[in-house]
Amino acid sequence: MLKLGVNIDHVATLRQVRGTFYPDVLAAGQVCESAGAHGITVHLREDRRHIQVEDVYKLKKNLKVSLNLEMANNPEIADIAVDVRPCEVCLVPEKREELTTEGGLDVVSQKKEIRQCIALLEKAGIIVSLFIDPDRGQVEAAVDAGAPYIELHTGAFCGEADVVRRNQELKRLMDAAVYADKLGLKVNAGHGINLETLPDVMKIPCLYTLNIGHSIIARALFAGLENAVKEMLAGMSGYDGGRRQ
Ligand code: PXP
Repeated sequence: MLKLGVNIDHVATLRQVRGTFYPDVLAAGQVCESAGAHGITVHLREDRRHIQVEDVYKLKKNLKVSLNLEMANNPEIADIAVDVRPCEVCLVPEKREELTTEGGLDVVSQKKEIRQCIALLEKAGIIVSLFIDPDRGQVEAAVDAGAPYIELHTGAFCGEADVVRRNQELKRLMDAAVYADKLGLKVNAGHGINLETLPDVMKIPCLYTLNIGHSIIARALFAGLENAVKEMLAGMSGYDGGRRQ
């Protein structure tokens, strides 16, 4: 079964742009949870543009489903993660000026630092995933660094309008998923997924969880958050491991 992790960062974005106390991030997580989401994801960014440290503690304390914390490999945030002990951490690259996570983590060039961070988090009982582009070298580096999970960056595929390049991106994702599975990694995927791109994303084999945020929160404006989550879950329900050959 393909699981859904709902990223609720943009509930916090709405709060932060006005400096209000609403909308309530925990309440949003709980609506997603009761709508059937299997996990809640938040990204504690270095610039704290949306999720705040207190949100992470509150979510960990009150959610029944698993909490997945996205974070850069940064000692200050690693200390917070060790204290909060989310079920999972997904290590992502982070640039201050970016609108959202733009590319995958370059595990190849930062293997030593990433290995140390994984060891620290695992010692605290946290499952670690690395957010990487669908590239065999990065998959191999993730294995070398000791990660049990990867999350494949679907952003290039989901954002591509040209049919030929789109199919090339999908093929890269499919190849990387099969390769990672063969090397013993568990494979998640996320970024840019919406109800339109979902059917093609589901052609990627070997997936455990899709982490989806922006499109669900945007859809919630018209359908309500509970319905937006349920629609996504309904779209994901036919996943068969994606083996089409
Ligand atoms: N996975 C990771 C690692 C991310 O950084 C993000 C964006 O915060 C997502 C998934 C969700 O992407 P989107 O908001 O485009 O669905």
